[in-house]
Amino acid sequence: MTHKDLRIKFVQFWEEKPRNHKYVPPAQLVLSNDATTLFTSSGMQPLVPYLMGETHQKGNRLYNIQPCIRTQDIEGVGDNRHTTFFEMMGNWSLGDYFKKEQLSWMFDFFSKKLGMPEEKLYITVFKGDYGVPKDEESAEAWKKLGIPNERIFYYGADKNWWSRSGRPDQMPVGEIGGPDSEIFYDFGTKHDPQFGKECHPNCDCGRFLEIGNSVFIEYQKKEDGKLSELTQKNVDYGGGLERILAACNNIPDIFQIDIFVNIISEIEKETGLLYSDKKNQEAMRVVADHMRAAVFMIIDGVLPAKKEHGYVLRRMLRRSAVKMHFLKRNLTPNFYSIIGREILRIYDKEQNVNKKDQQDIVAKVISQEMNKFSETLDKGLRLFEKKQDINEKIAFDLYQSYGFPFEITQELARQKGLDLNKRLFEEELESHKSLSRTASAGKFKGGLSDHSDQVIKYHTATHLLHQALRDVFGNSARQEGSNITQERLRFDVRLDHKLTEEDAKRVEKIINDRIDENLEVFYKIMPREEAERIGAASFFKEKYGDEVKVYFIGDYSKEFCGGPHVRTTSEIGHIHIKKVKKIGEKLVRIYAE
Ligand code: SER
Repeated sequence: MTHKDLRIKFVQFWEEKPRNHKYVPPAQLVLSNDATTLFTSSGMQPLVPYLMGETHQKGNRLYNIQPCIRTQDIEGVGDNRHTTFFEMMGNWSLGDYFKKEQLSWMFDFFSKKLGMPEEKLYITVFKGDYGVPKDEESAEAWKKLGIPNERIFYYGADKNWWSRSGRPDQMPVGEIGGPDSEIFYDFGTKHDPQFGKECHPNCDCGRFLEIGNSVFIEYQKKEDGKLSELTQKNVDYGGGLERILAACNNIPDIFQIDIFVNIISEIEKETGLLYSDKKNQEAMRVVADHMRAAVFMIIDGVLPAKKEHGYVLRRMLRRSAVKMHFLKRNLTPNFYSIIGREILRIYDKEQNVNKKDQQDIVAKVISQEMNKFSETLDKGLRLFEKKQDINEKIAFDLYQSYGFPFEITQELARQKGLDLNKRLFEEELESHKSLSRTASAGKFKGGLSDHSDQVIKYHTATHLLHQALRDVFGNSARQEGSNITQERLRFDVRLDHKLTEEDAKRVEKIINDRIDENLEVFYKIMPREEAERIGAASFFKEKYGDEVKVYFIGDYSKEFCGGPHVRTTSEIGHIHIKKVKKIGEKLVRIYAE
């Protein structure tokens, strides 16, 4: 089956009786009225107001195919199923039909419309978590459809709960979400024990592929931290076109669907290497994925830049160039533009692709960026070759000046028999970040005007202040920003209540008591999930990587932070809250010395 056939079948299925769904055009990849994510990352994203009760002019049964980008998947690309760009096939019930209809239609779509053998379909259902009961209704519906118990698996909120922010405890106030039920396709490949003893639908060994997720959006997070049931119960289904196509063709590698076969064959032609040779697969997959994402960004108006959308585009192109370098030196000029043109050809007249109109701009943006990077790529590699001792500092210079991802430098270093430590590299990066942040003090948590002793003391004091505010007002007290000079610290906090003079005194006393206790200040680097689990305070505007640095002050405070800090709290000396000012709705600015 080709991607064009699959598109047609999907459209027919939702338009046909008894489903009678209406098509809604997909949104742009860059949404101008949504600051929550850089790119559209799911089909439901543009529909949030309607899922929350607004009337949609096309009715309450909708479907479409939405181009999406998930940047958190960049490092994951290279296996048989992850991509940064993908098309999400979706259908929605806005308070119309619910679980029973949705699941039976899903079953019909995969087994009847697409002809997948029933015994290859595995189901997962929410087992109950965070005070929300097990989804018995979905489990019953699947059983009635003839799915035997052995092919129905139950998981908690990590796997079978969906909201744009993740699990119930990760949802901000106002966010909507609910339990979900996923369908997996079983390729029947042998289980790889490095992924665990037993194989199951959510195992990462590659035997199972998730091809669809029906989310039952029936909850909203409230101010008190609890979930409340929405009056409008919605269905939000999404399934990746690329993955569904791989399952239709019974090939457990999405890079072997027609779309990628054509892109990869251009890479094979250029390099003289074969995709079937396992050692080339990771690099070829990354190049094919990143170039495709880049083309879709460019036709949506993104240009390479130093930040935000443009930086993601730049990273995609740069990473492709580095991966290509390992496949072949001295590429044919315009090789990347040829790939860009091939991608437009594959998608011509689908989504908003129009080869004739777009090929010039795509070729121009790609070739300008790649020509520029090929100069720094060579310079960076020469610098690398010149150095005898490659250490983390050099890895950082290569990253900073020549745009080399750490992994690439590490790979090169290994060829010289050297091993680089990612943590040391990250520390280098962190200290650079807090230095460069001084240039835009106030916009970020670092907020330090310099690294003098006094500034470091005040910075450590902000951790105590943050925790003391949480002691007094509860964990909803959230840091919004800070700015520190040698004269004073300034701290912005979002509070649900008024901060009275009396509260300020209480907060001040707590801080000074902790200072008198002379608590030790130390940090640990840990996986982000672990830091979240232990309740470390994070700064919600900041995006964190997979590994984070958490600063502890005795066992009183723990907070995501890059540093620097004093070693023990008595070094701070006493803190006095000088002024408290309301600077916005629920937003308070505190000055202390
Ligand atoms: N919103 C859900 C997802 O992104 C289903 O559409 O998986």
